Amino acid sequence: MKLIFATTNAGKLAELKSMLGDTLEVSSAGDFPQVAEVIEDQPTFELNAAKKALVYARATGLCALADDSGLCVDLLAGRPGVQSARYAPTDKKRIHRLLNELDGVPLEKRTARFQCALCLAWPDGKLVTVMGTCSGRITEAPRGEGGFGYDPIFEPLGQTRTMAEMTKGEKSSVSHRGQAFAQMKPHLKALAEGGQAAS
Ligand code: IMP
Repeated sequence: MKLIFATTNAGKLAELKSMLGDTLEVSSAGDFPQVAEVIEDQPTFELNAAKKALVYARATGLCALADDSGLCVDLLAGRPGVQSARYAPTDKKRIHRLLNELDGVPLEKRTARFQCALCLAWPDGKLVTVMGTCSGRITEAPRGEGGFGYDPIFEPLGQTRTMAEMTKGEKSSVSHRGQAFAQMKPHLKALAEGGQAAS
């Protein structure tokens, strides 16, 4: 049984493989160079994940999994949201822009959440979508060297450390992506047991 994870991110692929063990053979987007890059131009994380998963499932005739994630800040009406990766040219500049936009805002009003939509698509168009959320707040300055993206300025609820100050394991136990993978696990297990004809 083969599943495509529509990502070129080696970290995300490793995370999925460690969750699945050897129940499903997983390929990544890099194994299908004939499939054109999918533009993430939809208004929600769910629609972007579904668009990507469907393109790969239809192009290959295999089940495909895709994710889309980002950071939503309450005071900024959910921005950067689906624009998280494109909010500025580099991680450092994206953090700088966000901190500037929240300049002078007290800690209790700096609430935000990371969200991750994960979508499993079948070649016939069937979809299963799950959503993982990690609530927290934006710190006043970056802290920590780990992780990526907005991790140095995001403190999960109930934590005194930013995501960049946590180990990988600590982060995935609270993260939006960890939660989305956990919700998707039973669907992937069913796929492994029932075969792709089960769509
Ligand atoms: P994508 O889902 O890989 O397209 O990620 C979108 C963008 O959201 C990334 O480029 C990061 O800027 C941000 N992002 C998503 N997940 C995380 C995370 O776990 N930590 C920090 N930033 C994240």
